[in-house]
Amino acid sequence: MQPLYEGKAKQLYATQDQDVLRIVYKDEATAFNGEKKAEFEGKGILNNELTSHFFKVLHEAGIPTHFIEKTSEREQLVRRVTIIPLEVVVRNIAAGSMSKRLGIAEGTPLETPIVEYYYKDDALGDPLLTLDHINLLKIATSEEVAQLAAYAKRVNEVLIAYFKANGITLVDFKLEFGKTSGGDILLADEISPDTCRLWDAETGQHLDKDVFRRGIGSLIDTYQSLFDRLGGKLS
Ligand code: TMP
Repeated sequence: MQPLYEGKAKQLYATQDQDVLRIVYKDEATAFNGEKKAEFEGKGILNNELTSHFFKVLHEAGIPTHFIEKTSEREQLVRRVTIIPLEVVVRNIAAGSMSKRLGIAEGTPLETPIVEYYYKDDALGDPLLTLDHINLLKIATSEEVAQLAAYAKRVNEVLIAYFKANGITLVDFKLEFGKTSGGDILLADEISPDTCRLWDAETGQHLDKDVFRRGIGSLIDTYQSLFDRLGGKLS
């Protein structure tokens, strides 16, 4: 069976129910728009486990998500949505591209969380967008963008508290949203150490994909230790 879509970390398949899709988590990791690439045996299993758990935490907090259930080590069922081509990034502490772009030292706390939008377009290198750009490109209406920002801030509050209770600082993360055929906006894609920056609250140790992006540690050992710290058996 051919996937409907294959991304860098996941495959998406149709099911017998046209409102439901099956996601398969792969072992591949990429960085810098696919320039750096490697396979890590077991990464897909860990990310499926972690993302399923985070979506449940968010569902319990009242945030509408695409997640239905985890059905096997690497698979989950989700509601079918049309992805809005925006990467919605929320930042609590300066790091990564924000530190580079604005010259703010990595690790500087931000007075208030910052929301940024990037155009999900590999050929363009996912450029940063202003609200006027989003309007111009007709990616989403102003009302929809306001709703995405409100959801993103709420996700941030829930996840900050969740990670803090486990001795982890949520530095920043990326979300994607989609629309159902009925027009409802749902949180979609994944939330995992691929898409978040997570630092040990005591030592500042990186517990996310920056170990791979920056070549500073073992990705599998890092994801496994995150998984163990969050309780070892999550979903
Ligand atoms: P950045 O500092 O590189 O802009 O990344 C901000 C956050 O977004 C960080 O937690 C990693 C995540 N992210 C993705 O999930 N996918 C991407 O393609 C990029 C560039 C960042």
